Amino acid sequence: MRLDDLHLWFLGDPATPRLVGALKLVSAGKGVSLHYGKAWLGSGFALSEDLSLVDVEHMPPSRLGADAQRAVGAVDDARPDRWGEKVIRFVDKPKRLSLMEYLYYAGDDRFGALGVSTSASTYSPRAGSALPRLEEAQLLSEVVAKIEAAEPLSALEAKIIRAGGSLGGAKPKALVDIGGEQWVIKFFNGEPVDTPVIEHATMTLARRAGIAVAETRVVHLAGGNAIAVRRFDREQGRRIHSISAGTAIRAATASGDEPEMGYPELARILRRVGIAQDNINQRDARELFRRMVFNILVDNTDDHEKNHSLLVVNPFENGRLKLAPAYDVLPTNSGQGYQEFICGAQGRDSTLENAMSQCDAFGLLPAEAAAEVAAVIDVVHTWQAHFAQAGVTARDIDSLAERIDGEELLAQRTDFDQARFRSATARKKRTSPFRRS
Ligand SMILES: Nc1ncnc2c1ncn2[C@@H]1O[C@H](COP(=O)(O)OP(=O)(O)O)[C@@H](O)[C@H]1O
Ligand SMILES: [Mg+2]
Repeated sequence: MRLDDLHLWFLGDPATPRLVGALKLVSAGKGVSLHYGKAWLGSGFALSEDLSLVDVEHMPPSRLGADAQRAVGAVDDARPDRWGEKVIRFVDKPKRLSLMEYLYYAGDDRFGALGVSTSASTYSPRAGSALPRLEEAQLLSEVVAKIEAAEPLSALEAKIIRAGGSLGGAKPKALVDIGGEQWVIKFFNGEPVDTPVIEHATMTLARRAGIAVAETRVVHLAGGNAIAVRRFDREQGRRIHSISAGTAIRAATASGDEPEMGYPELARILRRVGIAQDNINQRDARELFRRMVFNILVDNTDDHEKNHSLLVVNPFENGRLKLAPAYDVLPTNSGQGYQEFICGAQGRDSTLENAMSQCDAFGLLPAEAAAEVAAVIDVVHTWQAHFAQAGVTARDIDSLAERIDGEELLAQRTDFDQARFRSATARKKRTSPFRRS
């Protein structure tokens, strides 16, 4: 079966799938385009800012890197990332391996609310069985290890991983059902430290720093721990249209310009197309600032464009964006000294000076931003006790301390001088008579 024509569906309510439009392989196989269908043009919504509701074939950017592949706009978040692609290559073994195969074989449990079908009249995703239950996590971990080691799978093993193996990221993971809800389960992968427990500890520390995080729990398995993370794009059986930060930033960038992949740009987008009611957009921007500071201080340098997501709230009414809970937050232990996401005037440098430098993009005055930094520092100062309480071993804490409490990051915490920012410009008086104060 050659998948040259695929159809995109919206599954906000999975009981009533709605046809969005047609997908085509373009750009010599390096891209996928989208053409909205008539019904969707009449009563659907723009999947991302760069996919306006007009009757044209929306094309992916023409200037892609040498080996880059991309589906247009938010469609790109419907395809699996490295791990999911590996599972598809290993389990489904499609004859051709284009973006179309990856889009199709990602199945029905992919990120967000989009689905892919070979038919334009019925939503018929690649067949899969019910998600494995938490009790099957042990078996799942063994299947995943086999995939990592490129060992053949039995039919049963292929079936269990196919049910929920196509999520993104690079690390081995699967989806499991816990009490009727979907959770992502990420397995230990031979790292020098107990990464799943450390991720749980970091996520719960982030919560103490005022960051909304996806709910996590440690799952003890023979041969290593795993971490289960509750899906934030599912809600009582419904699916929430969600996009990655990269998609949002690319969509907001004028065509031909280089997207500014970073926190300040994401904050501007949140303030512009976030939820104005109750200042949720301002609060999201402020929280994003805290996340940036937290990531710098706990050595989470792997904060790239797919490790932040946005939920599209009420897509049919206004498509406002809400910052999704944080996930994949843990010390990277790379010591690289720079983040994957731009923080400020000094680009990706992992310093608080850099984080402070463009606080206005987050809608914060220097004094307000400095107060956020100070609050995050107070929480990060307690990381060792918190990690110990969360079950991280003393040996692992010592290992992480080489970076988090190493010369550079510890100095960031101890040398930060909040008072320096106190005298900076007081809040500007709002003079417009139309603005409520
Ligand atoms: N709690 C969650 N709810 C919904 N989607 C998630 C959740 N956690 C992760 N994802 C999706 O899965 C991808 C991979 O997860 P991540 O934790 O980043 O794994 P990795 O460590 O392999 O990068 C993310 O980029 C995101 O798209
Ligand atoms: Mg990730």
